[in-house]
Amino acid sequence: AEQGLEEYFESRVAGEQRIEPRDWMPEGYRRTLVRQVAQHAHSEIIGMQPEGDWLTRAPSLRRKAILLAKVQDEAGHGLYLYAAAETLGVDRADLTERLIEGRQKYSSIFNYPTLSFADVGVIGWLVDGAAICNQVPLCRSSFGPYARAMVRICKEESFHQRQGYELLLRMMAGTEAQRAAVQDAVERWWWPSLMMFGPPDADSPNTRQSMAWRIKRDTNDELRQRFVDMSVPQADRLGVTLPDPDLRWNAERGHYDFGEPDWAEFKRVIGGGGPCNAERIARRRAAHENGAWVREAAAAYAAKRAAEREA
Ligand code: ACO
Repeated sequence: AEQGLEEYFESRVAGEQRIEPRDWMPEGYRRTLVRQVAQHAHSEIIGMQPEGDWLTRAPSLRRKAILLAKVQDEAGHGLYLYAAAETLGVDRADLTERLIEGRQKYSSIFNYPTLSFADVGVIGWLVDGAAICNQVPLCRSSFGPYARAMVRICKEESFHQRQGYELLLRMMAGTEAQRAAVQDAVERWWWPSLMMFGPPDADSPNTRQSMAWRIKRDTNDELRQRFVDMSVPQADRLGVTLPDPDLRWNAERGHYDFGEPDWAEFKRVIGGGGPCNAERIARRRAAHENGAWVREAAAAYAAKRAAEREA
């Protein structure tokens, strides 16, 4: 019977049909999705911190309102993604435990500090730009709840990307100091943005199987190339220099050639040794502990309502 189920599953995936939570799926498929969707959800929640640091220091009411909306969107993305993960039979409280105990990963990118307000613009432009590049294809992921969550997330990410680019255009039309702050932020965020796509294909243990299952639709290197090709003209238009001496148009390939990110740094950051890893997790843990009374109150209220209904 198991073999028939597996054949049916494979034929649905091959036929571009969605797999839904009640459908039979191989254990490895479920495990891979829990890993990826949980990591993605954690990234959204941890990703609130670097920009959240600027909420109290935004230079105008308008910029503060925009940033507040953006950080709230990220909380929403985390919630849709935790809900998608729960359809796979895991518990959100357990996933949060695994995050704060360092047993599950979140994106390397959020372990870098935001040193000036220009970083808010550059995160919108490059980090959210990279996120869109990676996530638009995931709207066609084979697992229904994940693919559907991606549709809404991508729409909101597009707004985030535009707010970042607009902020940078404004700063580049400002003073010499503002232009220098943008250039400095671009130099700090460019390489970490390229690392968001994950290790090179040759060193990516999960890509082959995830592509076969159509959880992922493109390889890490394909998406990284797409991001570089998209970003270079945007950098020109903005008037900033990307910090890569090897970056040049290759007419034969029809793509930009670019240098190699520092993969030793990438490994260090995902291993917990980045500039802000300890701070990010400590803050997440404190928020979780400080929220315990809310969870307890909600549970007590639900129990009381249930008792009332029975009476
Ligand atoms: N940061 C942290 N860990 C990473 C990163 C990264 N940028 N890239 C890869 N890894 C981890 C993988 O999770 C995997 O570790 P694990 O097996 O312990 O889970 C390991 O490095 C090897 O990588 P791959 O074999 O390439 O892993 P995978 O096939 O999962 O590809 C990728 C990684 C591209 C990040 C994929 O999981 C994905 O597309 N995820 C959805 C997007 C996402 O999570 N975005 C979050 C940041 S964007 C945002 O939130 C705004």
